[in-house]
Amino acid sequence: MKIIVLAGGTSTEREVSLNSGKMVCKALRSKGHEAVLLDVFMGYESENPMELYQTQTDVDVAAKALSGRVEEVEKLVKERKEARKSFFGPNVLTLCKNADIAFMALHGQNGEDGKIQAAFDLLGIAYTGAGYLGSALAMDKGLSKQIFIHYNVPTPKSVLFTKENPMKEMPFSGAVVKPCCGGSSVGVTIAKTQEEYDKALEAAFALENEVLVEEYVSGREFSIGVMNGRALPIIEIEPLEGFYDYTNKYQAGKTKETCPANLPEDITKKLQKEAEHAYRALKLQVYARIDFLLDENNEIYCLEANTLPGMTATSLLPQEAAAEGVSFEELCEKIVMDSLEVSKDRM
Ligand SMILES: Nc1ncnc2c1ncn2[C@@H]1O[C@H](COP(=O)(O)OP(=O)(O)O)[C@@H](O)[C@H]1O
Ligand SMILES: [Mg+2]
Repeated sequence: MKIIVLAGGTSTEREVSLNSGKMVCKALRSKGHEAVLLDVFMGYESENPMELYQTQTDVDVAAKALSGRVEEVEKLVKERKEARKSFFGPNVLTLCKNADIAFMALHGQNGEDGKIQAAFDLLGIAYTGAGYLGSALAMDKGLSKQIFIHYNVPTPKSVLFTKENPMKEMPFSGAVVKPCCGGSSVGVTIAKTQEEYDKALEAAFALENEVLVEEYVSGREFSIGVMNGRALPIIEIEPLEGFYDYTNKYQAGKTKETCPANLPEDITKKLQKEAEHAYRALKLQVYARIDFLLDENNEIYCLEANTLPGMTATSLLPQEAAAEGVSFEELCEKIVMDSLEVSKDRM
């Protein structure tokens, strides 16, 4: 199959995405597919774009060339916005249209939030993972929260407000401040005092206009992959220091990860059921990873759903698949196959 692995982009998770894309591309090649890595924003400049399948011999080299170009990307974002040019880089749509499917190795804004998915539906381009609506709902933590409450998916208490009308007084004695549509813990702060809360708000508002403040839940943290509506084995996440922030997420050795998690059978079943429940409530498709906390009274709290979770062999969802005997290569191929099936109804 011809597969365009879309990565990079302009979100705060650009580098994480390039890493996912590189790994997915290699995995798909090892399964015999004609897979190429393509930066959705930078694109591929060529008179004959299809030659990318011949010219991109080494995926590591291709990924390296795209990495670390923060200033260049920022400048281009500004230019394209001012000139009202397409977000898609040169030849991206042509290459996607001429492939069997686009593998979404993007994370965060313009990738995980449903916009590209909606455009692709209208253009007749098949892509992996959730559709536009589920992606958008899961990306917006405020909207996800409303849906969780409506469908009785247990979730921490929260308040949502904007920069124009902020809640200046700390709403809970322990508060977790989050930009409404962020990811990878960027801009997330746990505040125990009013002073910490003030700083946390400032940090979150520097990234976004809307902020979600949740009640702090003390307990164990878990994440649960769901594929085609069925939960995978649970993984426990234990940062050696602090909470599961950006550094603890991506720096090797900073977090202990245990899969399958050491939990009694009944709690495992309950958590998995809630993960499947959250997946359905948010209208997700193909695969997703749902984050949970469990307090000392075994109360379950659903934090959020990730529609395009990290995809390297050591990322959380791939570890969960591995616990069921599914290799990373098999997982990537399965996502492609399941997505092709779902794509038939999206165009
Ligand atoms: N209500 C909460 N109580 C305690 N810790 C939390 C709470 N909400 C989030 N966290 C911590 O912050 C991390 C990031 O929060 P999350 O809602 O998953 O956002 P992100 O999209 O950035 O992953 C979680 O993995 C968890 O460690
Ligand atoms: Mg999370």
